[in-house]
Amino acid sequence: MMTFQPQFPQGFLWGGATSANQVEGAYNLGGKGLSTADVVEFVEPEDRTSMKIPFPSLDEIQRVLDTENDRVFPKRFGIDFYHNYKEDIALMKELGFKTFRISIGWARIFPTGVESEPNEEGLAFYDNVFDEMQKHGIEPLVTLSHYEIPLHLSREYGGFYSRDVVDYFVHYARTVFQRYKDKVKYWITFNEINSLLMAPYIGTGLVQDFVPEGRLLEAKYQAAHHQLVANAKAIEACHRIIPDASIGCMVIGMINYPNSPHPEDASAAHNDMQKTFFFTDVFTRGSYPFYMKRFFAEHDIHIKMELGDERLLRENTVDFIPFSYYMSGVSARPEQGGEKAGGNLISGLKNPYLEASDWGWQIDPVGLRTLLNMFYERYEKPLFIVENGLGAFDKVEEDGSVHDPYRIDYLASHIEQMKEAVGDGVDLWGYTTWGPIDLVSFSTSEMSKRYGFIYVDQDDYGSGSLKRSKKDSFSWYQKVIATNGEDLSSS
Ligand code: BG6
Repeated sequence: MMTFQPQFPQGFLWGGATSANQVEGAYNLGGKGLSTADVVEFVEPEDRTSMKIPFPSLDEIQRVLDTENDRVFPKRFGIDFYHNYKEDIALMKELGFKTFRISIGWARIFPTGVESEPNEEGLAFYDNVFDEMQKHGIEPLVTLSHYEIPLHLSREYGGFYSRDVVDYFVHYARTVFQRYKDKVKYWITFNEINSLLMAPYIGTGLVQDFVPEGRLLEAKYQAAHHQLVANAKAIEACHRIIPDASIGCMVIGMINYPNSPHPEDASAAHNDMQKTFFFTDVFTRGSYPFYMKRFFAEHDIHIKMELGDERLLRENTVDFIPFSYYMSGVSARPEQGGEKAGGNLISGLKNPYLEASDWGWQIDPVGLRTLLNMFYERYEKPLFIVENGLGAFDKVEEDGSVHDPYRIDYLASHIEQMKEAVGDGVDLWGYTTWGPIDLVSFSTSEMSKRYGFIYVDQDDYGSGSLKRSKKDSFSWYQKVIATNGEDLSSS
């Protein structure tokens, strides 16, 4: 066999990814309203239940707000990117970033979500951030809703469960497309849209009180329909307002292996993957896939659609498919027991062939190559890995250095497989590692779970100098980018 040397294309978009509620802080400055993320508190590790993402009732939200002074809300302080964005973007520049993924805090632009006029101070903040990126030659990649919506929309409407929220979202999307049309050419509507099946509050703002008795699954798919319609409408607006922009909708990229060669296990793995493919099928092919008919019938799910929805979905599909990839899962036929694995919302059984992170996420670089091929075979649309990385405990040495070979190993092995997929012929636009600078964890709201090349001196409770310093992985990623992924060695 001839040796084949895959290579990343010229212009490959290397970079990193963050979200507003995990980095910005300043939750009540600049006219910002409260978002759904601002009421998610830090929970001590020993008090965490297996489900760390709450699905609250209105009463619970009220109780949290009434006693907020006794609670810790790390997503309210983030890492104070709001005041440090210049220094942070300069560090991204030093890393050699071609692109930097951020999200816009919707409640910074429309504090309650229902205003007709946007908050100028919020708009000006992102103008400054984009200008800073432009100054350093970094292309912004911007998510419109990354695990947050204005809290008011959640409390008054049950989030995207209500059709009204589609219009509020589209008004917000149009406003920012209009404002940033000369500065932002890569857009993502929703972060990990398929997460709503596991975490409906985080993904869509749905709270318990709005769900009719026993109809939670139906409510989730109704909210999904509304987000898919909102996505289509936002795509339509984006293409009209910024004709040279590319826009996508994101999913948690997950590959499920069968627990054994038993055909029923293989079928379970296939069914689990269809739960993700449902979303990518709709926003890439433009219609509900055939297999949902039976699923909806068997689960007594009736989706309310408006006249024109089908046309909207059909005419406004994505330009590229952005997805996150952290781990793979194992599926088994229902009667099969087995030890559960931890996971990025979607999990399954433990895989005896894989190592896991300190949080139990099963590390599987080869799965990334397979998944890239699966997505590309299915859609033949450009792909973009917009999150990948290792959450780990870091130790600061006495001289201030952080030695993180585990992070380098994780990323190098994934980039290696990504390169193989590019060699396989997959059209991959770019790669943004999750949390290039340490940030507040989404699932556990802790600082201790770190992803960055840049260390941030802050603990779980918000104490620390916030000083930024470079870990060993910083110069490693710098070299990876400088060599366009050719040199992945750790020396
Ligand atoms: C993704 C989210 O699911 O995973 C990010 O889009 C999140 O917001 C990331 O931070 C890693 O998860 P965690 O829970 O380790 O922060």
